[in-house]
Amino acid sequence: MAYTKCITLSILLLFTLLGAANAEKLPATDVKRCAGNKPFPLEVRVAGCIKPPCIIYKGTVQVFEIDFVSHKFVTNVTALVKATTLGVITVPYELPDEVAAVCPNLMYGAYCPLYPTEDVTYYFEFPIGEYPEIGVKIEIYLVDQDHDIVTCFTCDIKVKKGVSGNKVAELN
Ligand SMILES: *[C@@H]1O[C@H](CO)[C@@H](O)[C@H](O)[C@H]1NC(C)=O
Repeated sequence: MAYTKCITLSILLLFTLLGAANAEKLPATDVKRCAGNKPFPLEVRVAGCIKPPCIIYKGTVQVFEIDFVSHKFVTNVTALVKATTLGVITVPYELPDEVAAVCPNLMYGAYCPLYPTEDVTYYFEFPIGEYPEIGVKIEIYLVDQDHDIVTCFTCDIKVKKGVSGNKVAELN
């Protein structure tokens, strides 16, 4: 009797733990490769977006979780963002230093240097400032201490006004 109860409790506990683990992990986002055969991340999770274009609100911070593998010994990794509008203009997007520094923003206790084949997750908090309210293709790439590209992907986004302002606009 006590034995059965114990098993039942263990099973319940197992399902609870599995449920918690699933709830924490964001779903993968369908991001695209960069031109020129650059290394592609293992997976990218843009919070709240599975299928781009991702709707991103001005004045917010959009979280990206980027799983990537380093292919060499790297001591320093920096994130860079380029924005392409209407397929022509490509402008670098200035990131605050503490956001662009990949090493201090690795998840699950990982830290630099990174060794070849090591896979890690960069928690990228993309600050959305003033941005034209049109579709933009952003290219996010990480470079190492030698300016070699560690990983690169693109994601279509659509920047909108804050949530409340947006609701009013939708009623019109
Ligand atoms: C890493 O690289 C960035 C960009 O080149 C530089 O600003 C930063 O100081 C470097 N950090 C370290 C710890 O070397």
